[in-house]
Order: sequence, then C-alpha cells, then structure tokens
Amino acid sequence: MPRDFLTTADWSRAELDALLDAAARFKRGADRAKPLAGRSVALVFFNPSLRTRASMQVGIYELGGQAVVLEPGGTSWTLEHRAGVVMDADKTEHVREFVRVLGRYCAAIGVRTFAALQDWQEERTDPVLAAFARHSAVPIINLESAMHHPCQALADMLTIREKLGSERKRVLLTWAWHPKPLPMAVPNSFALAAAQVGHDLTIAHPPGYELDEELIREINSRTFDAGATVRVTDDVDEAFDGAQVVYAKSWGSRQFYGAAQDDIEQRAQYRADWIVDEAKMARTDGAIFMHCLPVRRNVIVTDAVIDSPRSVVIDEAENRLHVQKAVLARLSGGEG
Ligand code: CP
Repeated sequence: MPRDFLTTADWSRAELDALLDAAARFKRGADRAKPLAGRSVALVFFNPSLRTRASMQVGIYELGGQAVVLEPGGTSWTLEHRAGVVMDADKTEHVREFVRVLGRYCAAIGVRTFAALQDWQEERTDPVLAAFARHSAVPIINLESAMHHPCQALADMLTIREKLGSERKRVLLTWAWHPKPLPMAVPNSFALAAAQVGHDLTIAHPPGYELDEELIREINSRTFDAGATVRVTDDVDEAFDGAQVVYAKSWGSRQFYGAAQDDIEQRAQYRADWIVDEAKMARTDGAIFMHCLPVRRNVIVTDAVIDSPRSVVIDEAENRLHVQKAVLARLSGGEG
C-alpha cells in the first residue's frame, strides 16, 4: 500500500475498491473506529476551499483526532519549495523544515496547492506537492494540486457506485465554458479514477482543450487493464448520447497556458454550446449530473439541470467526508 495519497494512479484497483468499501461503512455508521484518537492532522491550504477544508476537519474530528489548519502566507510563514535557492526574496520558511516540524506533531499532512496557471511544463510535475512528499516523515494527502484531486475523484466514484451500482457505466466527462481558464486537477483525476475502476469513458472538449498527453496514455492503459473503453470527441451533442453519468467541468487550454487573456478570447466561441442543459441531458440514458462544486449556475450547467432529481452534486460533496475518513484511517494504520 502506498504511504501517501497523492494520486489514485499510485493505488491499485483493489486498494481503491477497499477505500470505497471503507467509505461506505463510515457513511452507514457501520464503522465507528477512532484511529486518530489523541492524534492531530495538519491541513495546509495555499488556496481557498469550502468542501475540502470542512470535510477534512469534520472527518478528523469524527475519527477521534483534531485538525491543525495552516495557511502559508496567512496564518503561517510564506513557504519556499524549490531546492537550493537563496531565500533572499519573499519566502520565509522552506518546506524541508516545515514538513519535518509538522511531522513531529501530526500523524499526517494534507495539502492544497493549486496550479498557478503560469508554466505548464513545471506545474504538470506538481512541484509543491512533490516537495511535501519528498521531505515528510508522515503521510501526505493531496487536497488538490496542479495535476490531481484524488479525494474528489474517490468521492465521485463512490457517488456513481451508490447511485448506479458497481458495474461498468457509460461515463461522460464534458468540458464546459467558463469565463476564465481553470486548473485541470479535477478532470484529470476524475478521468483517471473512472478508468481505474473500469467505466467506459467519453471525454468531450473543444479543439485546443486536450488533457495532458502522458495522463491520457495512463488513462488508456488503465482502461485497457480494466477491459473498458475510452474515447475523446469534440462533438458536444453526440457525446451525451446514451451516457449514464454526465460530469461537467471547465479547464484551461495548455496551448494558452500562462496567457489567460488569449484563452479567454479563444473560448468565447464555445459559450453558447458548451453548457449542460436539458436538451443535452435528454440525449442521455437518464444520466445523473455531477460536478465537484463550486459551480457557476447557468454558465457550466443550467438551473433546470442542477436543480433536477438527476443532479447528485450535494451527495457528491457529502461523500468527500466519507472517502477522506477512509483514506485517513488507512494511512494512519487503521483498516480503512
Ligand atoms: N470540490 C472541492 O474541492 O471544493 P472546495 O474547493 O470548496 O474544497
């Protein structure tokens, strides 16, 4: 079993299934173990959050522990992550000391560090998260990095399983128009996890909004291993045909990475068509509608769809709590 929870790619299908089983037990109240009794978990937020922060704090409490929430540059010192730099600018503390100090107090460290949307070749390596993992003596939990949001993806897989059963489903990940470019962690992790658990996956996006090539190769490989299929299309209507799950998310173009205004001008042409509305949902096989939240209503998805009985976005958000308890329990030595 991996020591950290950085991406689902590090965990086998059997290990992911075990986490989902454990999450389901927590959710139905069948597991009331307190593996964090008398222990603390640090939660390091470089970026804002509602769901991740609240569900982690509540989950740690419910497992018997307490959360120590830190915001570098706010409630804790500004942090440098690069090796060998002369720290004579605005960064006060290095990750090397930060994580080793926290490791003396805490059983695990969760970290949220979004993409800066400046330099794709650097950010695709998840440099801040990697520095945490490299220098930490205790498990690191990715609470959304530049490339991955594995806790969200695990909650998404639990939600699909609860709503539609464990068998293979036809799952659509669709890009949606948004007024500005957003990071790719959520679509990356959703597509990867869906492939790992064996769903037939369609990824729909306009030309120029391709996901990372190496990640797509990984998704193809995992889909093949699971005996499932994956296809990519730029036909936003046909993509919905027969889908059982519709997962909407916007993301930025790698072509215009670091040039937000160019991306904004490029994406303007997709504003009218790339929204999840009732007409598109009518083409599906009674699909559930999913989004990680926060979501811009009547931009990504119409009110009629997100407020319909097919929308499972609140259950999805609830499931963040249960899957993260499973991850925390597993990484802290419990059954999980
Ligand atoms: N989905 C998600 O991670 O939500 P927050 O950004 O509010 O944590």
